[in-house]
Parts: sequence; structure tokens; C-alpha cells
Amino acid sequence: MPTHVLFVCLGNICRSPLAEAVFRAKIAEAGLADAFAVDSAGTGSWHVGEPPDERTRRVARARGIELARTARQIRRDELDRWDYIVVMDESNRRDVLSLGADPARVVKLRDFDPEGPGDVPDPYYGGLDAFEQVYGIIDRSLDGFLEALRPSLDPGTGL
Ligand code: 4NP
Repeated sequence: MPTHVLFVCLGNICRSPLAEAVFRAKIAEAGLADAFAVDSAGTGSWHVGEPPDERTRRVARARGIELARTARQIRRDELDRWDYIVVMDESNRRDVLSLGADPARVVKLRDFDPEGPGDVPDPYYGGLDAFEQVYGIIDRSLDGFLEALRPSLDPGTGL
């Protein structure tokens, strides 16, 4: 069975679609694409159906990463499908827990940041520099996350 990973933020237009796309690129690069099922979602509904924020797409495109999907809201009935529900901040964590997520499945992305824990800050009301900073945080935290998961990957689908 592939390891199921869902990235979650508030709107699903800035942080979580970026984390999803960068993680897809990293596992493809590592030859581990088949070891994972990956998706992202928002806790809120305001942006459902919209493409990712233009600023998110711009910082991703500058690294050769295209963001293809549109925003969706997380559903109660999917919570048990994910091995890891990877939230961006404490507010996301509270929201998924209040929906009924198993606390053992909920992790915060920046707990894997080699430069130290914290929230992935919401860049929505910031400038392009906030999006650049978020890209860096997500990129290095995903490296830490993937390394933390490696020992538990199914040898039949992974390495
Ligand atoms: P995201 O960013 O949670 O990283 O997608 C946000 C997107 C939209 C809003 C807030 C944060 N908003 O308030 O509409």
C-alpha cells in the first residue's frame, strides 16, 4: 500500500498546493512516486474550484514546478484515508482535529524543518517575498519529512 499523504492549509490556494507539488517533484526525483498517494485540501471553502494563487504559481514556475489542480475543501469522510495529514499551522491543526481527525495522523510540516519548528506562515496578505520565504520553508521541511518517512515505506512500492 502506498503511504497516503494529505497536505492541508486554510484556502488550498497558497501553501498546501505548493507543498503537494514540491513533494510530488521530490518523490519523483527519488524514484519513490509509486510509494505515495498525495493530495492537498483546505479547511475553508472560500476558494473551492479556484486555481492556486498567481503568486504561488509564479514562485513554483520559477523552479520548474507547475501547479495543475484547483482548490477543494477537506471532508470529514476522508480523514481516515490518510496516513499523514500534514498541516501548515496550529490553526489548521485545530480545524482538522475538530473535524474528527485522529491526532496520531496529524503532523505539522515545519516540525520537519531542519532549521527548527514553527508554522508555515500564511502568505496570503503578504507580498511576493512572503511567497518566496514560504517556498524555502516548504522545500527544506519536505526534505526532512521525506527522510523521516523513508524507513517506514513499503519496500514493495518504494526503494
Ligand atoms: P493558504 O492561504 O491557506 O495557504 O491557501 C490562504 C488563502 C486564502 C486566505 C487565507 C489564506 N483567505 O483568507 O482567503
